[in-house]
Amino acid sequence: MIQKRTIGIVGTGHVGVAAGYAIFLRGLVSDIILIDKDRRRAEGEAMDLMHGQAFAGSVMVRVGEYADLENAQLVIITAGVAQKPGETRLDLLNRNADVFRQIVEQLDRHCPQAVLIIATNPVDVLTYVTQVLTRRSGDLVIGTGTMLDTARFRALLGRHYGVDPRSVHAYILGEHGDTEVPIWSTANIGGVPLVGHTILGKPFDRDQMAQLFESVRNAAYEIISRKGYTNTAIGSAIARLVDAVLDDERSILPVSHRLTGQYGLDKVCLSIPSIVGRDGTTDALLPRLSADELEGLQHSATVLQESLQGLDLG
Ligand SMILES: NC(=O)c1ccc[n+]([C@@H]2O[C@H](COP(=O)([O-])OP(=O)(O)OC[C@H]3O[C@@H](n4cnc5c(N)ncnc54)[C@H](O)[C@@H]3O)[C@@H](O)[C@H]2O)c1
Repeated sequence: MIQKRTIGIVGTGHVGVAAGYAIFLRGLVSDIILIDKDRRRAEGEAMDLMHGQAFAGSVMVRVGEYADLENAQLVIITAGVAQKPGETRLDLLNRNADVFRQIVEQLDRHCPQAVLIIATNPVDVLTYVTQVLTRRSGDLVIGTGTMLDTARFRALLGRHYGVDPRSVHAYILGEHGDTEVPIWSTANIGGVPLVGHTILGKPFDRDQMAQLFESVRNAAYEIISRKGYTNTAIGSAIARLVDAVLDDERSILPVSHRLTGQYGLDKVCLSIPSIVGRDGTTDALLPRLSADELEGLQHSATVLQESLQGLDLG
């Protein structure tokens, strides 16, 4: 018998729906259960998605309660309050930690086996909070981390060099936020390192590249100041993660999880290239970083650890 693939989405706002829509269109699962404290909003989203079935195939979308997640292999958490214009991600922390306490308790009761994908901001801190609160193995808790930032980085580099972003091998690591670190030292296209090389007629210009990274780092602020929120690219990133987990791909993705001594860091969640599959994030790779990049990663960790201080996780 073919096993049904059931996932839950907790929080059916802009991000939850964009993720659900990307998963729905790609037919990655058989059942999607939507949960939101605003049940009518979730009902509306389920109805709207289901009307696309004639075009997208037979994915079932319905509104549910936590008890309906008994057979879920994976749950995406996008519940919370969204970033306001000008608000830093870390300012959001205290408003969202309480929401998570309630949600994780319900998920532990009803689907202790499921992989949890966390997207709510500040995502690294809330991934840490979830890992502390949950009774499941920490490997099963994955933050979307710098997947979105890395996607933006690759998109802009691809446009700059005139190549498919999927052929750009470059990471943003560390915090998903202001202290994120562009990893230039290993960035390459077709095996040719960016730094110090001319690729397709374009030499590596430090000032131009610094500007490109600034556009990546400020992308959320720029988008939020125009449309009020960001959702479609993070929705695509979440769908990519769902695929990697459910297909047990062992893909290497820059996701946030708890470090245990990698790069000399622990007691913090941030993104480093990690193996993602059915058991969550089971291992990580440790590319050799330049001294500046390592310092940047340590700075990310310090900022995140500071924001965890004063948070009551008891
Ligand atoms: N990780 C990333 O890269 C990334 C990118 C974009 C946005 N985000 C974050 O995603 C989060 C969601 O953003 P959004 O634009 O979808 O916000 P939104 O306000 O549109 O949606 C949030 C939803 O959560 C629901 N909710 C609140 N408390 C709940 C609870 N206790 N149980 C169930 N549902 C609850 C709300 O009713 C609402 O429908 C924000 O924290 C935002 O900053 C993360």
